Amino acid sequence: MSVNVAVVGATGAVGDLMRKVLVERNFPVKSIKFLASEKSAGKTVEFAGKPYTVEPIRPEAFAGVQIVLSSTPGSVSKEYSPIAARAGAIVVDNSSAWRMDPDCPLVVPEVNAEQLHHIKKGIVANPNCVAIPLCVALKPLHDVAKVKRVVVATYQSSSGKGAKGLVDFAAQAAAWAAGQPVPAPTAHRAQLAGNVITLDWTLDPNGFSEEENKVINETKKIMGDADIGVCPTCVRVPVKVAHSEAITVEFHKPLSVADAKAALAKAPGVVFMDETTDGKFPQPIHAEGSDHTFVGRVRQDPSNPNALCLWVVADNLRKGAASNAVQCAEELVKRGIVK
Ligand SMILES: NC(=O)c1ccc[n+]([C@@H]2O[C@H](COP(=O)([O-])OP(=O)(O)OC[C@H]3O[C@@H](n4cnc5c(N)ncnc54)[C@H](OP(=O)(O)O)[C@@H]3O)[C@@H](O)[C@H]2O)c1
Repeated sequence: MSVNVAVVGATGAVGDLMRKVLVERNFPVKSIKFLASEKSAGKTVEFAGKPYTVEPIRPEAFAGVQIVLSSTPGSVSKEYSPIAARAGAIVVDNSSAWRMDPDCPLVVPEVNAEQLHHIKKGIVANPNCVAIPLCVALKPLHDVAKVKRVVVATYQSSSGKGAKGLVDFAAQAAAWAAGQPVPAPTAHRAQLAGNVITLDWTLDPNGFSEEENKVINETKKIMGDADIGVCPTCVRVPVKVAHSEAITVEFHKPLSVADAKAALAKAPGVVFMDETTDGKFPQPIHAEGSDHTFVGRVRQDPSNPNALCLWVVADNLRKGAASNAVQCAEELVKRGIVK
């Protein structure tokens, strides 16, 4: 079966990759259109070697579309994703607008693809770019020893702030490397070149950042276990693409390092790198451009017999957004959910 697709937010950092990922994964496209804001209407984007004109987003644009891959700011998704769903499409939405809606499944295909059979509003939410690789790594371990609590510190790349973040970081990095005064940040909330920023997001009333609260809430929803404790510290680092995560995970019973490594080595979507055998360990430069989640540095927590430490890296624009969304779309077709 091939399907009529609309890519919304096609001119953004995620939308740009969405086009590439659809081609790379040979998604069965019958027809495709590319939508963005009025500002981009008339621009040309390339898909499968052919030029396409970007259309402005408007309700009529969704007629006949079966799958919408949407990557716009949350406010735009709030308005347009229900319009697309009412027109008959299933929307896979990358924004945070629908993630905690009980009527919208929050899906990482390697973890909870079966949730795609419960799409009450016509909208599937694509999770946060930290929560996705975290859950891909936790799931094979949860299946053997049940996760009780997760403490995670993140090392998040500039591209998490989209196309504007990358422009901001490039300008700062060039000046910093040349020993020139670093220009004031335009997308990040502080200087990123030669620095790290623990509050590159809005501060919520509970003292956690908006990003940290997403990691807490979305991890529980994806794992299907509201009792899992999650304590994150999210940090922006001077890396262009790919987020890293230092994770300490406590289980309900002891899990040996050897058994954890064995489970991770055969887990779907995971590239397990064992530094003890060949000295290799996951880095953002490995993950950039890949749809996989890279896991390594598995260690026994010396302070807790039921806990392990691990290091996880994934491309935030791909597995953290575009590739996970396309994988959801593939499952929708494979399972006969899209009509
Ligand atoms: N970057 C990441 O790592 C990441 C990861 C997971 C999820 N997400 C989420 O994915 C979404 C897109 O992120 P991004 O990083 O790709 O952002 P981005 O680079 O800023 O791109 C935003 C896209 O949305 C379009 N857009 C903005 N306002 C619009 C409007 N009023 N009507 C129609 N289209 C509009 C933009 O079109 P114009 O070019 O015409 O303005 C652009 O195509 C966000 O909700 C973000 O939270 C991002």
